[in-house]
Amino acid sequence: MNLKPETLERIEAVIPKYPVKRSAVLPLLHYMQADQGYISQEAMEWIAGKLEIEPINVYELVTFYPFFRQKPRARRLVRVCRTLSCALSGSYKLCETLQKELDCTLGNPTADGEVEIEFAECLASCGTGPVVMVDDDFYDNVDETKAAAIVAKIKSESGKGAAEPVSED
Ligand code: FES
Repeated sequence: MNLKPETLERIEAVIPKYPVKRSAVLPLLHYMQADQGYISQEAMEWIAGKLEIEPINVYELVTFYPFFRQKPRARRLVRVCRTLSCALSGSYKLCETLQKELDCTLGNPTADGEVEIEFAECLASCGTGPVVMVDDDFYDNVDETKAAAIVAKIKSESGKGAAEPVSED
């Protein structure tokens, strides 16, 4: 496993804090994901070896907790709020539109690994839904026009077209 030196240091430091090695599996998974961006098969086997447990014991945790990813994240992340206020404002339909326009399905990156869309829970602007975040950029009141502008902006930033500026409020 090609881990950053600081990750290896954290791993070596945390294991002795547990009375039995296997109890350190969750912190190791967090450190691994922070280092690699996701938990690969190789990473699960590496952790299992480190903690003297079976890879299936690690796999069970990775599949149980939605936080852990089993594939690399796309370069750009589009998050669509699906909590009640935004859902009532049309966020599910908006999410379908974004998937169609960006040519990807929920939770699966585009073929070139450029963009990924996921649902998010409340993004703290419930009165102005639907709310979307693209990486760290925040957009609210996302109607069809604004959605089209967001898509055009993402495409232009990845060299696939031209875009007008999108207002973020
Ligand atoms: S419900 Fe969407 S921002 Fe709160």
